Amino acid sequence: MPDSFDSFVENLQQRIFDETREAFGEAGFQRWRNPLYRGPLDAPDSYARVKGTCGDTMQIFLKLENDRVCEAAYLTDGCGSSTICGSFAAEMAIGKNPDELMEITGEAILERIGRFPEEDRHCAFLAAETLQEALSRYMVKTVKNV
Ligand code: FES
Repeated sequence: MPDSFDSFVENLQQRIFDETREAFGEAGFQRWRNPLYRGPLDAPDSYARVKGTCGDTMQIFLKLENDRVCEAAYLTDGCGSSTICGSFAAEMAIGKNPDELMEITGEAILERIGRFPEEDRHCAFLAAETLQEALSRYMVKTVKNV
């Protein structure tokens, strides 16, 4: 019966949406639906790939102009939570100089999202650690080129 199957699927999707909105708040839910800043970026000025203790990997790509991030992107093979965190980490990096990038911690990412499941908070710390690794590689490259 196609009608009841369609309504079953519709109800299931609605339930998943409701649960996701409840878990991540509106900002996280919208980012889960539309993960902005998904990479990769061609010819980044810096790049890092970090594997978290959960086994998932986060990648961050940065392009800088005049010592400020003009483009940022992330890639992850992790769960929806790491997608949300990678996307917010990339968004928060755009427009920042190295000093300001250092302020993007896991806590800062969680604060920006607003609500986040306790058991998935490590995803934000993985995104921040990867961003900081990309920053540190950029700094090393910059110092070497001086
Ligand atoms: Fe592994 Fe989120 S990064 S569960």
